[in-house]
Amino acid sequence: MRKIISIAVLISGNGKTLQNFIDCIKSGSLPAKIQIVISSNPDAKGLERAKINAIPTAVVSRSSYKDVNSFSEAITKKLEEYPIELITLAGFMHLYKIPDTYSGRVMNVHPGLIPAFCGHGYYGHKVHEAVIGYGAKVSGCTVHFADNVYDNGPIIIQRTTPVFDDDTPDTLAERVFKEECTAYPEAIRLFAEGRLKREGRRIVILKKE
Ligand code: GAR
Repeated sequence: MRKIISIAVLISGNGKTLQNFIDCIKSGSLPAKIQIVISSNPDAKGLERAKINAIPTAVVSRSSYKDVNSFSEAITKKLEEYPIELITLAGFMHLYKIPDTYSGRVMNVHPGLIPAFCGHGYYGHKVHEAVIGYGAKVSGCTVHFADNVYDNGPIIIQRTTPVFDDDTPDTLAERVFKEECTAYPEAIRLFAEGRLKREGRRIVILKKE
């Protein structure tokens, strides 16, 4: 039987990625249980999506904390109330300083091909605007392990899409998000199956036993 992994989902806004996880869990393509959704924004639409699906929620508002350390400690305290195996950042727009206990157990998705168009200030639509503005011919998404630097940890999965001459940030975002919708659940499945082996900066995907 496939193992069901306990995850936490950290959001800041719309919660599109959270919705994708919920849909994948319902359809049986993601063997996970979302134990808690934590939002850095009390008005995040993603909180509604969680509530509709009877998923516990918490708000840890970035503006209530003086620095990234105290903000991150508040998140960790909330996470510790649940049996979390993997923390997923899903449109989470802040740095979460990862304590040793969760090291190697935090994933993020970035709507671009790391190491291009990433780092502090590159999120959501800003990434697609930058890709088109630069004249890049391909873009895509990156699922990676998070560390304590924005968009820096080792890459698990990347998926590409062409950038067309008539693309707008909206049309490109839509195609990239479609890739995210399969890549992120796939990375979680691989983690749940114990198939992600770290070798330095590289993540090797082990064959199924
Ligand atoms: C996703 O496209 C994700 O790649 C991006 O936010 C979107 C989901 O946000 N994340 C980042 O840009 C993080 N650097 P939403 O759930 O609020 O729509």
